[in-house]
Amino acid sequence: MRARVRRIFEKLGGGAEALLLANAIDPHLDQSFFYLFDAPSGLFEGSIALARADGRLTVFSSALEEESARQAAKRDPDVTVEVPATSAQRDAMVRELIPKGATIALNYRELTHEWFCMLEKMLPSSKWIDASSAIRNARMVKDAGEIARLRKAAEIVSSVAREIPGILKAGMTEFELAAELEYRMMRHGSSGRSFSTITAFGPASAEPHYTPGTRKLESGASIVCDFGAFYERYASDLTRSFHFGKRDPELKWVHETVLEAQSAALAVIRAGVPAKEVHGAAAKVVDASPWKGRFTHGLGHSIGLAVHDGFGMNHLSVESLEEGMAITVEPGIYLPGRGGVRIEDDVVVTKTGYEFLTTAPREYIEVPA
Ligand code: GLY
Ligand code: MN
Ligand code: MN
Repeated sequence: MRARVRRIFEKLGGGAEALLLANAIDPHLDQSFFYLFDAPSGLFEGSIALARADGRLTVFSSALEEESARQAAKRDPDVTVEVPATSAQRDAMVRELIPKGATIALNYRELTHEWFCMLEKMLPSSKWIDASSAIRNARMVKDAGEIARLRKAAEIVSSVAREIPGILKAGMTEFELAAELEYRMMRHGSSGRSFSTITAFGPASAEPHYTPGTRKLESGASIVCDFGAFYERYASDLTRSFHFGKRDPELKWVHETVLEAQSAALAVIRAGVPAKEVHGAAAKVVDASPWKGRFTHGLGHSIGLAVHDGFGMNHLSVESLEEGMAITVEPGIYLPGRGGVRIEDDVVVTKTGYEFLTTAPREYIEVPA
């Protein structure tokens, strides 16, 4: 992981002698800890990753994941693992590695206030700088190992998405469908869902970030399934929309318009293109349709160790796409009180275009009731 550590220090532009990442209690774990320390197993609550500008990394783990930590360190000669018996011992070991009065970079975006107060006591003469933008920018462009994991996470959700028409049954609840999707993701090799699964039936599908409930599936309903898998800590994020039973010509047309909007966005993706132009290409299609203004969110976001992994693509984005970025492309049209359609895929940006990570069919599918 020497290259990743160096990349962050480069983006910091000098001035910091060390970079210190600290995890609190799940779910307050800093995903950047795992960007530096490639341990696919282990929770690492309360652990510290201490990186120096030369690329060396020391991880202070607890005994709870000692085996996972040591296995990971064995594969990476730049990493040393310490398993201190007490927090006093840990603090003394950290102090030994950091010169007095050093400037230490912290991930302000993820470090808890409690941790910061402990660090001030642990390293009283230190100066602090914010590394969060440097870390975010370093993580934005993926290396080959990260892309391989993202691809695997995307294959898992694509396989589950192909199974959805066979799962849908009149009378099933949104909870039951969500449970099926999560169960199947793990059956296909995921370590768990990468965010709270969205399964929305009928009018509920008009709310993009709906929380599933006990609503039952009825004929004539549109269905939105938005779900993601973790594979070796890397996330996927896919949405597929279906129609159940009695045909609805308007929702079919909505689906075709969303698909057209997604294709328009994909057609402009390549390294160097401003993210807001990609959003604009999809918005233009929707705004030229009878559903002008019903695409109510940004087109997508970068994806990686977190499902929302850096920047959002919308009409205000300041970022431009770079080769190796992984992003979602997820236009939608939402008709309040009636239903919605969203189609979401994960892609990697290349010099001349993009490569799909997710692969499940996107076209309009009517599932017989
Ligand atoms: N799953 C939330 C999103 O698509 O951004
Ligand atoms: Mn999603
Ligand atoms: Mn998404």
